[in-house]
Amino acid sequence: MERTLAIVKPDGVKKNLIGEVIRRFEQKGLRIAALKMLNLSKDEAKGFYIVHKERPFYESLTSFMTEGPIVVMVVEGEHAIHKVREIMGATNPRDAAPKTIRADFASDIEHNIIHGSDSKESAAYEIPFFFSSIEIM
Ligand code: RTP
Ligand code: MG
Repeated sequence: MERTLAIVKPDGVKKNLIGEVIRRFEQKGLRIAALKMLNLSKDEAKGFYIVHKERPFYESLTSFMTEGPIVVMVVEGEHAIHKVREIMGATNPRDAAPKTIRADFASDIEHNIIHGSDSKESAAYEIPFFFSSIEIM
């Protein structure tokens, strides 16, 4: 069993895609182990995406993540990290495989609906960023 962190980003919440994202996870046999909705402050967004601090998009990405509520969840299952990344599709919706969330709903590379941890190391940083152990079922 593996756990990963997924986020419905502000554009996904605005487009009413919370249920659609969860449905796609559950349909692939993944289980939601924790879930909440919240607003990120700019500092929290910068902390979450600290790995990208030298990237040219760091400023706009962290501003975008504060534009409205997000839904954060711990997703559990066999190969959960890889499975969630597959369900999401490539970062740029133009490159995303058909029937992935980003191919179906994302408007551009920055407004791409969803986040998913990209490795065991990222998941180990990202899950406790939002959830304490007693919040994960
Ligand atoms: P995420 O971390 O959000 O799950 O997305 P990802 O792994 O597919 O992509 P990553 O390289 O980690 O980038 C994080 C987020 O930054 C925005 N981005 N903008 N303008 C650009 O060139 C650019 N590149 C990345 C996207 O919102 C991306 O999801
Ligand atoms: Mg990433």
